[in-house]
Amino acid sequence: MEDTPLMRELTRDHARRRKLEGLEFGHPDTTRIITIANQKGGVGKTSTTVNLAAALSMGGLEVLVIDADPQGNTSTALSIEHHAEVPSMYEVLVESAPLSDVVQDVPDMPHLHCAPATINLSGAEIELVSLVARENRLRNAIREYLEQREERGEVRLDYVLVDCPPSLGLLTVNALVAAREVLIPIQAEYYALEGLSLLLNNIDLIRQHLNPELVVSTIMLTMFDARTRLASQVAQDVRDHFPEQTLETSIPRSVRISEAPSYGQTVLTYDPGSSGALAYRAAAYELNTRPAP
Ligand SMILES: Nc1ncnc2c1ncn2[C@@H]1O[C@H](COP(=O)(O)OP(=O)(O)OP(=O)(O)O)[C@@H](O)[C@H]1O
Ligand SMILES: [Mg+2]
Repeated sequence: MEDTPLMRELTRDHARRRKLEGLEFGHPDTTRIITIANQKGGVGKTSTTVNLAAALSMGGLEVLVIDADPQGNTSTALSIEHHAEVPSMYEVLVESAPLSDVVQDVPDMPHLHCAPATINLSGAEIELVSLVARENRLRNAIREYLEQREERGEVRLDYVLVDCPPSLGLLTVNALVAAREVLIPIQAEYYALEGLSLLLNNIDLIRQHLNPELVVSTIMLTMFDARTRLASQVAQDVRDHFPEQTLETSIPRSVRISEAPSYGQTVLTYDPGSSGALAYRAAAYELNTRPAP
């Protein structure tokens, strides 16, 4: 058979489909809190958050997604109501509302829950500045929520995934203080590594001053186009720099991934057999099976 890029993609998808058959996801020992961050816009943070969350929850794990981005793209993709009157992360972060007041169940996804972002959250970046413990508000809210669930005898959450806005402001700082792990999606293109040192410096500062346990546990290549030599070169660069952190699974460029949100769906339900859905399932499995930090 000819060795063409298309053939390679088909072979990869076939192998992935076989490998994913009957795989079981394991409950982590404690709730894993993972922040998905990259101050660069449009690198796939939201797509990664919602699709990993969907894949983990469809594997039987209990997952909460926190939308910490005023754009509310995560809430949209999960079909979660988030017009201005809906109680949201704004109320949690600025008005100290308990998370349990704002968490909604994702329709048709029994193990998936979402704390939405509304447009009000765009004011939080400024309003937070004058509040006490302004960097710790999300961390405290998550802690209280996990305790409350335990007291009420509710199922323990396996994962909390926090989607960040494309900036390094107080919303992202709150997300980085609240998490044990950071997952950085990197788009496999020319400028990919530019700006990454800024993010890593910020993470170092937060580790030194606010959250000593924070680690960059996972790096994920997104919108990867195996047909371009540039993408492969960038991917290799990323793997050379972060051999431990970079997932073996990279997410291919796929129209299905970009279409799904406009139907209020994740790619896993929108087109389960697509290469995008297979890749996110494989990535979720890898994340779940690699030892947690
Ligand atoms: N693997 C992919 N293949 C094709 N399109 C993709 C893929 N991943 C994401 N996209 C599309 O690229 C755009 C940016 O993705 P996404 O919204 O996930 O990035 P983001 O980092 O969350 O952006 P922002 O910084 O604005 O929050 C979206 O239109 C999305 O549908
Ligand atoms: Mg986003």
